[in-house]
Amino acid sequence: MRTGSKVGIAMAAMVFACFLASNPMAAFGQSPSQSQSAAITAAEAWAFAKQGSPGAPTASAATPNPHQLVHVAGSTRTYTQAQIDDTIPDWFPQDHPAMPKIVSTGHKPVVEGCGGCHLVNGAGVPSTAALAGLPRAYILEQIAAFRADERGVSTVATLQTMPKEARGLAAADLQLAADYFSKMKFLPHTRVIETATVPKTHWHYFVLRPDGDGARESLGERIIETPSNFQDYAANSDRVSFIAYVPPGSIERGAIIASQGVHGAQTCESCHGGDLQGVGNIPPLAGRSPTYIVRELILFRLGKRTNPGAAPMRAEVSRLTLQDLIDVAAYAGSRKS
Ligand code: HEC
Ligand code: HEC
Repeated sequence: MRTGSKVGIAMAAMVFACFLASNPMAAFGQSPSQSQSAAITAAEAWAFAKQGSPGAPTASAATPNPHQLVHVAGSTRTYTQAQIDDTIPDWFPQDHPAMPKIVSTGHKPVVEGCGGCHLVNGAGVPSTAALAGLPRAYILEQIAAFRADERGVSTVATLQTMPKEARGLAAADLQLAADYFSKMKFLPHTRVIETATVPKTHWHYFVLRPDGDGARESLGERIIETPSNFQDYAANSDRVSFIAYVPPGSIERGAIIASQGVHGAQTCESCHGGDLQGVGNIPPLAGRSPTYIVRELILFRLGKRTNPGAAPMRAEVSRLTLQDLIDVAAYAGSRKS
């Protein structure tokens, strides 16, 4: 996510914490047991991006020098830190077609360039979403949903950015952005690794960053997704890659949920297609960020995605436990697109 939006998001994080504390039952409509509710509420700590957390190491968060020159491996370009913070760097122009202005710069202060948060190739980061390869009609539908506050506004920090963005977006720009991203080939950039223990991490610039002292902790029922190289992430490089640590056995269990179904839920493949490649206007899931996928599953489960098109998903996830959501997100993220 671009630094420009960070303050607003940090404030919104508090709103989300209060929402969960004060409204646990409203969140669960038709859900099963209380313990499941508590488990899903607890998942907020790792699935929804936060700017920082108390006691997190601060050395890495020191204010960068705005005049410092920044490079990323493989690019011939150089930007100052200030340019990275205030504009959208284009490290690898050869990797994508010419960008419409709405993607590369936006029209500040009303709308920010999509590339700043979704990367200029639309590959996305865990706190946003991959737009590359999404069906055009699905993109238009979701923008309408954001405008109508049908995707969880006022609950989750980072969720507050898109409704504002969508409302500011001119019709012609929306068409240009939808064309650009729907035609872009999605290249998965997340390696999904099963493990019982993970590096200890803290939130930094809306992503989980390893503490850097080698300390590890138990993964438990979580997904911990972290940039392979934090400098690439901080430089907004569109060649950034991520590692998603997932629980042992989750990929195989997720495969069963996707292809055979559990607890009477339909198979994911019956709607999202073989190997979760997407069908018609139903979005592809293969190779996308497991954190993004599980966050959306939680939002469906909490009844927070309320546009009419989301109804089948709300019914689907009402039958699944948090462990199922994690397993199927791990499986989907591990597929090739
Ligand atoms: C300031 C950051 C920011 C900017 C700028 C931004 N987005 Fe987003 N966008 C987000 C976040 C965060 C999400 C994920 C919301 C969630 O978790 O549900 C998102 C999600 C989306 C989704 C939903 C994807 C899906 O798979 O359902 C679409 C579509 C989208 N954005 C389109 C755009 C377009 C088009 C632009 C440019 C006009 C844009 N965004 C600019 C932050 C941003
Ligand atoms: C009955 C059809 C159906 C089934 C079964 C189904 N889905 Fe979906 N799914 C949809 C539709 C339709 C959407 C788009 C929702 C919208 O338009 O807002 C969607 C959206 C999603 C999204 C949001 C994608 C994004 O980019 O934001 C995720 C994640 C998802 N489904 C995961 C799953 C998983 C995992 C399963 C199996 C456990 C599953 N779905 C089963 C129809 C289905």
